[in-house]
Amino acid sequence: MATERTLSIIKPDATRRNLTGKINARFEEAGLRIVAQKRVQLTKAQAEQFYSVHSERSFFNDLVAFMISGPVVVQVLEGEGAVARNREIMGATNPANAAPGTIRADFAESVEANSVHGSDSLENAAIEIAYFFAGTELVG
Ligand code: TYD
Repeated sequence: MATERTLSIIKPDATRRNLTGKINARFEEAGLRIVAQKRVQLTKAQAEQFYSVHSERSFFNDLVAFMISGPVVVQVLEGEGAVARNREIMGATNPANAAPGTIRADFAESVEANSVHGSDSLENAAIEIAYFFAGTELVG
């Protein structure tokens, strides 16, 4: 499988509970390398644009409010099949359905406050990485 890069976000529920290190350990133990990382406070406009695919969904306004309720850590993970590998170790969107041992099963508070975001395709990964990082900020 090819080496890929994917965008990950450690969400406000996790930064609030000081879980950044524990979540990063999951990525590294799974063979993913953190090749870029920064802690940022998203603006409302940024959160709305990032999740614009969901703008017609009933949960959109709550999701945007949650994503700006505290700092997030945006990061780029690199590794063999990184997009799918990250989705595997994140677990299902709703932590009630997430497999044991996944990040969301172990740390998420709810379907909204579910601790991590991970790109869902290689195409979206490229778009999402470019949204947050300049090429010069990625150090493999
Ligand atoms: P989605 O892209 O479906 O999930 P994932 O993060 O696993 O790719 O949804 C994006 C985020 O929207 C999700 O992480 C949490 C939020 N969300 C809700 O708050 N309620 C919902 O019913 C769904 C489906 C998602």
